[in-house]
Amino acid sequence: MKVKRVTVLISGSGSNLQALIDATSSGRLDVEICHVISNRADAPGLQRAHKAQIPTSVLPHEQFSKRSEFDQALAALAAFGKPQLLVLAGFMRILGAPMLQLFAGRIINLHPSLLPLYPGTGTYQRAIEAGDKEHGASIHFVTAELDGGPVISQVHIPILPGDNADILASRLSPREHDLVVSTVELFSHHRVHCANDAVFLDGKPFSKPLRLQADGTLTDQD
Ligand code: GRF
Repeated sequence: MKVKRVTVLISGSGSNLQALIDATSSGRLDVEICHVISNRADAPGLQRAHKAQIPTSVLPHEQFSKRSEFDQALAALAAFGKPQLLVLAGFMRILGAPMLQLFAGRIINLHPSLLPLYPGTGTYQRAIEAGDKEHGASIHFVTAELDGGPVISQVHIPILPGDNADILASRLSPREHDLVVSTVELFSHHRVHCANDAVFLDGKPFSKPLRLQADGTLTDQD
């Protein structure tokens, strides 16, 4: 299915949401961001959505005594606008069964590491402490396994002498923005989908994740 309507879920700054907004305004990305959902009322990303006149919803997870109730409410809310793709852009909650069932194969997540390396948090520090030569970000289909679904695309950056977690994060951030725009663009052209835990590009299964090049294109070349 060619993706036209996208819902973005956030918990914080929303700089990746902003990259998507900018790409739709400039005409690069032919999609409508139809809804932004945050689990935090104070997420600065909500202001970015308001400025762009995108409908927003806040669903504070701490107001639900049971995780399953939050999961149900989130799934009901996420149906608003009939999105064809959901982008988790810094959304700091694990999705429960209702979301995964309702939107199977239609949820992608941004993660700041070269998955399968470093699922979870603290990825920059962990990569530096491990002595890695490079770090990066990944976009993957969301499954029940935390940061574990099939990877669609990645961007690699070098870890330089003197890097700390903050420096590395600030160097990765603009490249992650390019990655999310280019990856959503693939969906908008109906070029990528997931079936049986495998990712397909133009109908052919991937052997490895697509890699973001310096010019912002995604290819299967190193
Ligand atoms: C990104 O680095 C993303 O990989 C991670 O959370 C961060 C969100 O940043 N999941 P922002 O809110 O889009 O600025």
